[in-house]
Amino acid sequence: MPYAESPVAQLLERNLSLFAGKRLLIAGYLEDNFVLSLRHEARSITLFCNDYHRYLALQAAAPGAGVTLQFGHQPQGLSADYDALLLLLPKAKRESQYLLACLAPWLTPEAELFLAGENRGGINGADKLLAPYCQQFNKLDSARRCSLVHGQLSHAVAPFNIDAWVQHYQLQIDGQPLTVCALPGVFSADGLDEGSALLLEHVPALHGRVLDLGCGAGVIGAVLARRYPAIRLQLCDINALALESSRRTLACNGLQGDVLASDMLSDVAAGLDYLITNPPFHAGLNTLYAPTEQMITAAPSLLARGGKMLLVANAFLRYPPYLDRAFKQQQIIAENRKFRLYLAQ
Ligand SMILES: C[S@@+](CC[C@H](N)C(=O)[O-])C[C@H]1O[C@@H](n2cnc3c(N)ncnc32)[C@H](O)[C@@H]1O
Repeated sequence: MPYAESPVAQLLERNLSLFAGKRLLIAGYLEDNFVLSLRHEARSITLFCNDYHRYLALQAAAPGAGVTLQFGHQPQGLSADYDALLLLLPKAKRESQYLLACLAPWLTPEAELFLAGENRGGINGADKLLAPYCQQFNKLDSARRCSLVHGQLSHAVAPFNIDAWVQHYQLQIDGQPLTVCALPGVFSADGLDEGSALLLEHVPALHGRVLDLGCGAGVIGAVLARRYPAIRLQLCDINALALESSRRTLACNGLQGDVLASDMLSDVAAGLDYLITNPPFHAGLNTLYAPTEQMITAAPSLLARGGKMLLVANAFLRYPPYLDRAFKQQQIIAENRKFRLYLAQ
């Protein structure tokens, strides 16, 4: 049985009997593999995962019979007969609301809803999240700054319409409008990040195969596709909602690009002429530098001969030693008060 490491997993561990005999749908911030233990209590479990790293880790744990695992921005092709939902709250409240809206239509009419999460992840707002679905809800347990809240479906559930969840905004870039489409919780859902703006101002002319790594809503990739229509553009991200946002941003502006799920470079083929990134330094609720440091180390092996990496980062982040070790040359080609743009080759 996977060890209950996180505080939320420990809270669930002492409440396992709540899930006995249920057809259980589980989603949200699946921080560790502990959720797989629920298959021993429940009749069956379906894990709906929108984080590709966690999806790969759960898949690698060979979940076995009674477990269905799905990665995507909304559940597809399930049978609508789940008698309980367990939502492990993600970081953004709007993302929790989105997940409840897209998961609730797969539940039976009086299904039970369980919300679990940390105080800093917004579990104290569980009543507001449940209000559209349940007349009553109560806190079942709390420990280590986490709570488990329960409700039961009492209202009819509206069919899920993803279009209602996409935020649109316009940027003026290269003297032309660019429409950005962003689903809840996606980075820069309401404006262009300052680091990405610095990158777009100073990016040199591009050719060949170009990757926008950690594409978010697809802003960088979309601007590059418009500026350099001859490039073969790929955009990748770990977050399924980011991938769907990027697809929509490209389509909305009449642009082309291949959008793929990848945990950093896990699913990217070698032979890139440019690797362009405003890389992450968070995973879920936590600050985490290691994925970007490992990506810098691995990047040269995916670049074609003469290939280059452009990376923008907060000035306080200590990537230069990693760039020095991995690349023959690296230089800062632009900077401002907060960000630095590195070119490595
Ligand atoms: C700083 S944001 C940049 C987003 C976008 N390029 C922009 O400029 O608005 C970093 C992005 O990396 C993604 N990300 C986080 N961890 C990742 C990983 N392990 N592999 C790939 N992408 C990841 C996040 O989902 C987020 O969209």
